[in-house]
Amino acid sequence: MLTITSLHARQILDSRGTPTVEVDCTLSDGSFGRAAVPSGASTGSHEALELRDGDKKVYLGKSVLTAVSNVNGSIAKALKGADIADQRAMDKTMLDLDGTPNKSKLGANAILGVSMAVCRARAASEKVSLWQSLASQFRIKPGSKIKLPVPMMNVINGGAHADSGLSFQECMIVPTGFASFTEALRAGSEIFHTLKKILKEAGHVTAVGDEGGFAPHFKNSDEALSVLIQAIDAAGYKGKVQLALDCAASEYFKNGKYIVDGQTMDSKALVDFYGKLIAKFPIVSIEDSHQEDDWNGFALMQERYGKKIQLVGDDLFVTNTQRVKQGIDQKVANAVLIKLNQIGSVSETVDAILMTQEAGWNAVVSHRSGETEDSFIADLAVGLQTGQIKTGSLSRTDRVCKYNQLLRIEEELGAKAVYESPFGRE
Ligand code: PGA
Ligand code: ZN
Repeated sequence: MLTITSLHARQILDSRGTPTVEVDCTLSDGSFGRAAVPSGASTGSHEALELRDGDKKVYLGKSVLTAVSNVNGSIAKALKGADIADQRAMDKTMLDLDGTPNKSKLGANAILGVSMAVCRARAASEKVSLWQSLASQFRIKPGSKIKLPVPMMNVINGGAHADSGLSFQECMIVPTGFASFTEALRAGSEIFHTLKKILKEAGHVTAVGDEGGFAPHFKNSDEALSVLIQAIDAAGYKGKVQLALDCAASEYFKNGKYIVDGQTMDSKALVDFYGKLIAKFPIVSIEDSHQEDDWNGFALMQERYGKKIQLVGDDLFVTNTQRVKQGIDQKVANAVLIKLNQIGSVSETVDAILMTQEAGWNAVVSHRSGETEDSFIADLAVGLQTGQIKTGSLSRTDRVCKYNQLLRIEEELGAKAVYESPFGRE
């Protein structure tokens, strides 16, 4: 029997210089796993609780020393000597110890750090890559070909991630028309650098936002999407790279109305507004088109555009199977954004992916705007065969470390790797 001999958490900094939790796990055979927890800015109100100390004199209230001591104290006590064969059982022990619906006692950041570190230690013990260990742990059978995820690359940052004035949080490029992830990444990088040149020549600032994308002061979303098309064409990838949006609409929902590009709209008018953008630009995916509790707005989007493009719920579903199930029953979208720390354990995250896939919907594994050098999500996307990942722009190590890990996985797989578009619209 393979057991945990030690769990040790510490406070480290994330990509925004804000404290987060890192956990080290050692097993009885000496195997070691380390993992770090990400953190969002435009968090959904239904997410599991990220425990912060709140003492304004220390890290402006953002330190996570209580979560750290929960790992080093009660969680370590409960899990030391525990058999690690079954990840679900490990996670359940922590959920029972916490006992709250949103992990507010121990903190989702404490529980998730341990959950991820145990997965890493298990993979080390099995002497296989993390993606392979996750696949076998959760009984995924990829067959003879293994899908590398198509990335949504956030090259223009707005909303809560930049002070650019742009309403939409993320304007992304999606390289679909390529034979491998390696080629797709090259296209993304070339478009990113071409975009920089175009922005510079037009007199825009080229400083980057939280996810490594540019944050120019554009008049409106039409200007942002037009410049992306210009960059794709100039880089020589016309028709091979499409566009995606994360509107993060909860952030521009004020007093019952949506305020986008200076226009005030109700839920239905917003659906029409997106319709014009979909007609004009090669958009393959729209995330969080409406505020997180506007189920009717999402349902109307799905009715109008769900056959043509991917409609993703992020703040809407918060990787929570209860909300995902409601969404599937009510047909409010056709895809789910998957974020480990929204729900706070690896096995619950996997449950959300499996429920999504069983419904015939797409699952998109995602980073947070506050990230670390941990590239767990790259392996999760391959291990669970989601076919899509969202992990930021083509700059900053907190973003590109995930892409770099996917390069390594593709290299390891050789001829077994496949790269294919998950979208009908091209
Ligand atoms: P967040 O943004 O990590 O700040 O929540 C990412 C997203 O909305 O997809
Ligand atoms: Zn989002």
